[in-house]
Amino acid sequence: MIKSEEIRELFLNFFKKRGHTIVNSSSLIPVDDPSVLLTTAGMQQFKKYYTREKDPLKDFGSQRTASIQKCFRTTDIDEVGDERHLTFFEMLGNFSFGPIINDDPLDFGNGGYFKKAAIYWAHEFLTKELGLKIDYTTIFGGEKNVPLDEDSLKIWQEIGINKIEKRGREDNFWGPTGDEGPCGPTTEIYLEGIEVWNLVFNEYYQDKNGNLKKLEFPGVDTGMGFERLMKILQKTETIFETDLFEPLREILDNFSGEIRRKRIIMDHLRGSVFLIADGLFPSNLERGYILRRILRRLLLHLRFLEINFDVLEKMIKAIIEKYKAFYPELNNFEKIKKVIFDELQVFNETLNKGLREFNKIIKGNESEEALGEKVFYLYTSYGLPVEISKELLREQEINFSQKAEEVFKQLFEKHRLISKKEENG
Ligand code: SER
Repeated sequence: MIKSEEIRELFLNFFKKRGHTIVNSSSLIPVDDPSVLLTTAGMQQFKKYYTREKDPLKDFGSQRTASIQKCFRTTDIDEVGDERHLTFFEMLGNFSFGPIINDDPLDFGNGGYFKKAAIYWAHEFLTKELGLKIDYTTIFGGEKNVPLDEDSLKIWQEIGINKIEKRGREDNFWGPTGDEGPCGPTTEIYLEGIEVWNLVFNEYYQDKNGNLKKLEFPGVDTGMGFERLMKILQKTETIFETDLFEPLREILDNFSGEIRRKRIIMDHLRGSVFLIADGLFPSNLERGYILRRILRRLLLHLRFLEINFDVLEKMIKAIIEKYKAFYPELNNFEKIKKVIFDELQVFNETLNKGLREFNKIIKGNESEEALGEKVFYLYTSYGLPVEISKELLREQEINFSQKAEEVFKQLFEKHRLISKKEENG
């Protein structure tokens, strides 16, 4: 069975041979980009090369780069636990910054390329290098002021892919990250019904008001989900059975309990380890709160599976062992462990008391209003975070409705104003 470590190497070598400079993953904490809290895509560290504020030839000796980027996305955080959602993941990508010098897949030089080379190489890597079969592809079908991507359509047909679906802005127009930046139509590659590789043709710059302006030179930004690719290559049932999670799974196999809880533990612990290795600390603010939130949820599920801190320590070590050769910043076991343990030990007490009270007062038959009030009470009197209450309610299939949410929010706002007044004397 081909290992993830080998695939990383194959990917980078494939593009290195084709004139790309290999660039390390940037930190999960974006440098010099206030528009986003965390790094969510491979192109983020290259934004200024698309806008020509920076010169790729000067910095990389090439208009082509490739990377394996650590990414963290919070949009689907509540979905984690199902078969496919993750917060932290790795993304394999190749990038080209304009001007286009030669859009020819046989040109292994260092000049800018565009749709033809990008599509041919993606096809070659998947089908020849990895021996996989492309199911179908999608292209941008045209919407408002952005036309149908006829070029991509022709290129796929030329290659011999016949199933090509046209899709709208929702699916096949990518970006920008944050509130402004490079963006453009995409063509996506599906294997076994799964979207694996997204090739973005950055032709536009979207400003803060949502207006599109043509970039001086178009560029390429591709991103392939590593966990999804490994699932297909290793023919596993879900991403969680790939070798990327193997060391954690081996430990968790010793515990009985819902698979959903195990997946949350695998995802949230791996994500926390990577975030802390990049210098993040849990806090009540912005990105620090994202880390705090996943650590707290992690503790909830560790508790349900009766996994103690010794086992947690083993799991932290297992993640570091699996990834440190490629991500040397993980070589910091003592610090990573300390940040996790400090946070969880403090929260453990709160969680114990909060859970006890939750079980005592939540009956499942209360009105929407009463539910909002109870969740507020658990928060103010026991410090039980609202996300944890909501998760517990979901587990018991108790609906925390829009109305309940509103009641909670109103009480919360009142409480906040009173506390502020008291603070100000
Ligand atoms: N930026 C695109 C994505 O994140 C392609 O890399 O999917």
